[in-house]
Amino acid sequence: MSALTISFALLFYGATALLIGGLAYRILLYARTPAPLRIPTTPAPLGTPGVAWRMTREVVFFESLFKSNKWTWVFGWMFHLALLLVLLRHLRYFTEPVWAVVVLLQPLGLYAAFAMLAGLGGLWVRRFAVARVRYVSSPSDHLMLALLVLIAATGLAMKYVVHTDIVAVKAFMLGLVYVDWQPLPADPLLLAHLALVALLMAVFPVSKLLHAPGVFFSPTRNQVDDARERRHVAAWAAALEK
Ligand code: HEM
Repeated sequence: MSALTISFALLFYGATALLIGGLAYRILLYARTPAPLRIPTTPAPLGTPGVAWRMTREVVFFESLFKSNKWTWVFGWMFHLALLLVLLRHLRYFTEPVWAVVVLLQPLGLYAAFAMLAGLGGLWVRRFAVARVRYVSSPSDHLMLALLVLIAATGLAMKYVVHTDIVAVKAFMLGLVYVDWQPLPADPLLLAHLALVALLMAVFPVSKLLHAPGVFFSPTRNQVDDARERRHVAAWAAALEK
């Protein structure tokens, strides 16, 4: 077994542990953070089914972003939908036999790779072209965009410029899953693609990309508007009332 295969196998185990452990820790923190006061953005649903429907619209259509900024919505939604299709297309590297729906999605996933780059491009241009967005943009905003662009660019370069042995890539990935390591092709583009993906996995739990699980914990979206029906009394106020 080559040193390269062993390094990348360990890299992926490490990155996966950081991603899963880090996300679990952050989600636990979110879940434990008290949100006793009713602060849903009104008009807000009066019952739980309404909240579920509101969250679904938020997660699937990015409703509040749509209401606030059409350009950001177009590029943001395009990027996320394309990312979903790209990731579904990648399931072929992790499943044997490949599921029928993943086979059907293959061509769509390829178009999505370009849509993903276009979306990222639009979001990045916005960080330079809109003065107030440029003012609040931090280096990490640019770095995450650069990381995603580089992952998509190296992926597309493998598809259209210098091919890699995708059968061997699949054997390597399945070997990681079943802890039966198989050799990894030493193609520079593939190694760059995989190293960048491992970096993305490792930094995810400490990055702005946490908005993905975070949206579910947003009190302004996930609360029922029952401030009049249920009175919240803080512990110190209850003590005073006695
Ligand atoms: C460990 C996980 C991953 C593996 C093993 C992997 C492997 C590959 C390979 C072998 C290709 C070339 C496909 C071909 O030549 O037909 C590719 C393409 C691509 N990858 Fe990945 N990749 C991974 C994760 C990701 C992630 C997380 C993203 C996005 C954030 C991504 C984005 C892309 C894109 C946009 C393409 C070009 C379109 C395509 O051929 O699907 N990859 N990837």
